[in-house]
Amino acid sequence: MADFPSLWASLAPIGRSPGGYYRWAWSDAERACRLWFTEQAQARGLSVETDGNGNTWAWLGDAGGGNAVVTGSHFDSVPGGGGFDGPLGIVSALLALDVLKERGETPVRPVGIVAFAEEEGSRFGVACLGSRLLCGDIDPARAAALRDRDGVPLPEAAGLDPTGLGPDPKRLAGIGAFVELHIEQGRALAADPGAPVGVASAIWPHGRWRLDFTGAGDHAGTTRMADRRDPMLTFAYTVLAANKAARLRDAHATVGRVSVSPNATNAIPAAVTAWLDARAADRSTLDGLVDDVLAKVAERAARDRTAVSATVESLSPETTFDHGLRDRIAALLGGAPVLPTGAGHDAGVLAAHVPTAMLFVRNPTGVSHAPGESATDEDCAAGVAALADVLTELACR
Ligand code: GLV
Ligand code: MN
Ligand code: MN
Repeated sequence: MADFPSLWASLAPIGRSPGGYYRWAWSDAERACRLWFTEQAQARGLSVETDGNGNTWAWLGDAGGGNAVVTGSHFDSVPGGGGFDGPLGIVSALLALDVLKERGETPVRPVGIVAFAEEEGSRFGVACLGSRLLCGDIDPARAAALRDRDGVPLPEAAGLDPTGLGPDPKRLAGIGAFVELHIEQGRALAADPGAPVGVASAIWPHGRWRLDFTGAGDHAGTTRMADRRDPMLTFAYTVLAANKAARLRDAHATVGRVSVSPNATNAIPAAVTAWLDARAADRSTLDGLVDDVLAKVAERAARDRTAVSATVESLSPETTFDHGLRDRIAALLGGAPVLPTGAGHDAGVLAAHVPTAMLFVRNPTGVSHAPGESATDEDCAAGVAALADVLTELACR
């Protein structure tokens, strides 16, 4: 019998700290997760390879055979994240193959498990970087020039040849269907009447904007209040304006990251950089929200005599998952609930190119991107069984 708790326990300590998981893309911890994946895959007789964009693939059957059914997710986490966001999809994929074997099912199509690189975009700023590169949804020259918070360029951090970054049409064309299993990042499945596994319908459009505020650094004790050009004030106003603009539209806006220069208690800052994460149910609402915030911030900057500039770091259009695949999977799973999400996924990137679906596993806390993220062993086992059913239907019939 596929044993979720013991396989999970063998991965869980990697990158764990009292404040949550720290599995930056290509960090020691994330590399250790990929090594774990390689060993687990090879122990199951799968062939393992890493593509030119840093995504790791494990294959049952002929990797180049075409019309493959691919499943998987990512190992990287946000700083201080939960343990399930990403890895649950990869662990469940390995176990689902064990279930197929136990059932005596033989795939008639190649089956792949993928660990995508830098899904969270926590290190290099662009969400779903590995899948975007694969699909040709980001300029490879832009990706090659990305630097992490310490200034390390992506190719160096990842050990990748910059000329090998970019679209991989042959690999993409070989994928007949992609299914990502993921922890639910909300409480829809936990709500009455509840269900351990759901099927995704859509992902809200969302994006990230870097906001650079500049002013004049000066002495906190001697600079008259009227004489200041304090970028922290413009920044503080921005946080409140974004919150209000989102509330007015039933949308989401978050400023979760900020960096202050020079970051001294007794000095007016010279510069503040902050990142706005904005999401909405449709693109025109998202655009309206961001335009509104940026216009208000520009007005405020004029009053503060500061300057502000905004740069889009990544933008993801609305994803509607393949209706046929969604309905087929929901029926196969006995009428599983179908739900949208505000969270981004590699499946959202793949969905623009190949028939794609997602399974969500119930999260009793609803928390994600924080240590409180959770799932019971029983629900994770139900997720494995559901994924095994889906792989049987898509790859073995
Ligand atoms: C990724 O999980 C995101 O939604 O930002
Ligand atoms: Mn995430
Ligand atoms: Mn994820």
